[in-house]
Amino acid sequence: MTETLTLTQPTTLETEIARRRTFAIISHPDAGKTTLTEKLLLYGGAVNLAGSVRARKNQRHATSDWMKMEQERGISITSTVLQFPYNGYHINLLDTPGHQDFSEDTYRTLMAADSAVMVIDAAKGIEVQTEKLFQVCRRRGIPILTFVNKMDRPTRDPFDLLDEIEKVLHLQTVPMNWPIGNGDSFRGVYDRTTRCVHLFERGDSGRRAVELQVQDASDPQLLEVLGERAFNQLQEDIELLDVAGAEFDAEAMAGGALTPVFFGSALTNFGVQLFFDAFVDLASTPSARHADVGLVPPTHDSFSGFIFKIQSNMNPQHRDSVAFVRVCSGRFERDMTVEHPRTGKPVRLARPHRFFAQGRETVDEAYPGDVIGLVNPGVFAIGDTICTDQLLQFEPIPRFAPEHFARLTNQDTNRYKQFNKGLAQLEAEGAIQVLYEPEALRREPILAAVGRLQFDVVQFRLKTEYDVETVLEVLPYSTARIVEADAETIERLPWGATLRTADRDGRTVALFASEWSTNYWRDRFPTVKLIEIGAEAGL
Ligand code: G4P
Repeated sequence: MTETLTLTQPTTLETEIARRRTFAIISHPDAGKTTLTEKLLLYGGAVNLAGSVRARKNQRHATSDWMKMEQERGISITSTVLQFPYNGYHINLLDTPGHQDFSEDTYRTLMAADSAVMVIDAAKGIEVQTEKLFQVCRRRGIPILTFVNKMDRPTRDPFDLLDEIEKVLHLQTVPMNWPIGNGDSFRGVYDRTTRCVHLFERGDSGRRAVELQVQDASDPQLLEVLGERAFNQLQEDIELLDVAGAEFDAEAMAGGALTPVFFGSALTNFGVQLFFDAFVDLASTPSARHADVGLVPPTHDSFSGFIFKIQSNMNPQHRDSVAFVRVCSGRFERDMTVEHPRTGKPVRLARPHRFFAQGRETVDEAYPGDVIGLVNPGVFAIGDTICTDQLLQFEPIPRFAPEHFARLTNQDTNRYKQFNKGLAQLEAEGAIQVLYEPEALRREPILAAVGRLQFDVVQFRLKTEYDVETVLEVLPYSTARIVEADAETIERLPWGATLRTADRDGRTVALFASEWSTNYWRDRFPTVKLIEIGAEAGL
């Protein structure tokens, strides 16, 4: 498998870019993200990898304590990047955390993606998490392709499902294929582009790729195969779609206003290949990226990329911190020395890795769209740009406004060093934001989070990775604002019920108990600037 991933002959930058597809899958837990991922890998020929994706999910649920927490909550917290070949394409699949409390992490991952696949359970339609994650995609404005899964089980009416996507997500739908029946009477899909029917056969539960039998939808033999009821229903549906349905518009999809919809059943392998063949055709190639010097096209011949994720202790044997880089332009080579504009110091990229479900391998070269992991010598932070030649800075990765606050106390004073180190590392990963009370006698940090589960993760990781026991006291604040004014004015503000804290950059941050008190300050002290975290990005 390693062989197939390694480029064997020199190719031009343009060719490599044209065959890159970098995307993420978003879905509500249980809609079938893992199954679909597994099947995509299977069709890509990465059979071992396919097995390990499921194994990874199962292992998470069985062995480690960290994963036990996920199991208890039925959520997926950690993210990975999978790379595999498919029909000559080079696929980078970014795994996003499923839970809304980690929407900031999801956003960062989506910064590295060029498109997203939304998986929907055909019996359930748009679920809470689908919607939340979709909103995160919408902020990025990336194209979304939809896979309506589990057609082998009883489902909702497909027209209703499309209607729901349009109404709830305000996203125009264009079904690219159409299901014939569902559950026990599921007979296959009608491909609207080729006007052919792909018949569903109940195989051996998806252990191998299902061979497709193709017939024209108007073929009278189809009447025999489908039976009168399904045949008539299909003719009716086709007519309705042709008359009333919207036309596929590539530009509208590219702008995130329209989604092509595919029906299938990941578990039984049905419709997965049809979907993925269309996906590689429709999904965007690596796009130009915004930077302070203007748009940087992927074909720009010097290397550039940005760090969108940092994760430490991925492998307990290595205990290192890995910075994930999305390559934006040019060619990446192992051992290259790059500029690091934030610190102004050059860095040699000695140990670049690709990550698999279970392990890692060294990367010799990478192209725009690729995601590589660099062992972080402590210099990289989320949002950092690395580049050669021209100095540039990609647009910053915005922070989400925290809505939950808690004081964290270290229980064991002998482990103060580990406590600080762990917390700093988790902050560098973007797992949490850390604030301090500048004047107070107490030096316990205040954690600021977008979702409550982030607190649990921090406590859990401090314990398992740094052997530090902590106590968390949830604080009654709900809004944080950076306060900009001269020192004297800041002193004279009515702090009373509002907690005065500072971030690592030394900026004053006010924690308000309610929106009302924020507005009160705003009205009463018009010269004091109250800035919402992440507001510059409209988040
Ligand atoms: P997730 O990653 O989105 O959380 O979902 P996952 O793929 O783990 O799928 C959730 C459950 O739905 C699994 O069953 C999986 O087998 C099932 N599933 C996925 N796709 C289909 C499909 O097309 N048809 C049917 N009938 N089921 C599907 P499970 O019993 O929870 O887990 P397992 O024992 O199969 O691993």
